[in-house]
Amino acid sequence: MSTDKISIDWYNQNYKQYTAHVRNPDDSIYHSLYEKPAMYSLLPNLKNMSVISLGCGSGEDCNYLAQQGAKQITGIDISTNMIKMAKKTYPMYQFQVMNMENLVFENQSFDFVYSSLAIHYIEDWTKVFKEVYRILKPNSYFLFSCNHPVSAAMEVIHDNEQIHSREISYSKNKHTNEVLIKGDYMTRKTLPREANFAITTWHKPIGEISQEATNAGFVIANIVEPKPLPKMEQISEQNFTILNKIPWFIILKLLKQ
Ligand SMILES: C[S@@+](CC[C@H](N)C(=O)[O-])C[C@H]1O[C@@H](n2cnc3c(N)ncnc32)[C@H](O)[C@@H]1O
Repeated sequence: MSTDKISIDWYNQNYKQYTAHVRNPDDSIYHSLYEKPAMYSLLPNLKNMSVISLGCGSGEDCNYLAQQGAKQITGIDISTNMIKMAKKTYPMYQFQVMNMENLVFENQSFDFVYSSLAIHYIEDWTKVFKEVYRILKPNSYFLFSCNHPVSAAMEVIHDNEQIHSREISYSKNKHTNEVLIKGDYMTRKTLPREANFAITTWHKPIGEISQEATNAGFVIANIVEPKPLPKMEQISEQNFTILNKIPWFIILKLLKQ
């Protein structure tokens, strides 16, 4: 299944709020103090390179890639309004409305493909990996981040109004042998939508992710499970503690040899 209409509509309707959120680093700490520093630390040398960001949103990552020396910068996104926002803010880059499963670019047209927190809107990543492999030049990288399979495997439990917990566990009654399982790591599934963030993302185990990537021809160069920057502790001690124990996002760097 491709990105569903509910998610596309959500970004089209909430593009202003979403953009304001990502452009305020004190608000979007899971980006600014967690995912982005880790992604940026894994960038190859981009001097004079042609790069593309898949699911580029309002274009901030494209601007960062340009600041690292990339020469030709393209961003694509399935949401028309996110692309409008990106074009308005960064008219110097190329932005197009496009589904990352069908990239309308020539074979071997990019030196680097980047994608931050967007691929997990799609169920099967085979098409994306094949497309990215096709548009990449040899000896080039595809760097992407997504929900960490461990965080996504947890069951969301609302015990009462106050407590929101996420669990992956099993317990066994010593007398009856009855087993109680919470969460599910091994099964591919959509995650429950949150009231204020009505999007559909997909969970799958790391073995399936790795299989889909290598089937397309990629070699896995690196897998990174980020840690929050120390600054997060001053802004949100709770999130800092959680992210030091439970991974929220994962990053893969794939090589087309
Ligand atoms: C969480 S936002 C991330 C935006 C940006 N990469 C960032 O880090 O700020 C996910 C973005 O992926 C886009 N997206 C979802 N499915 C997509 C698809 N199949 N092809 C292209 N973009 C997609 C959404 O419209 C949204 O802008």
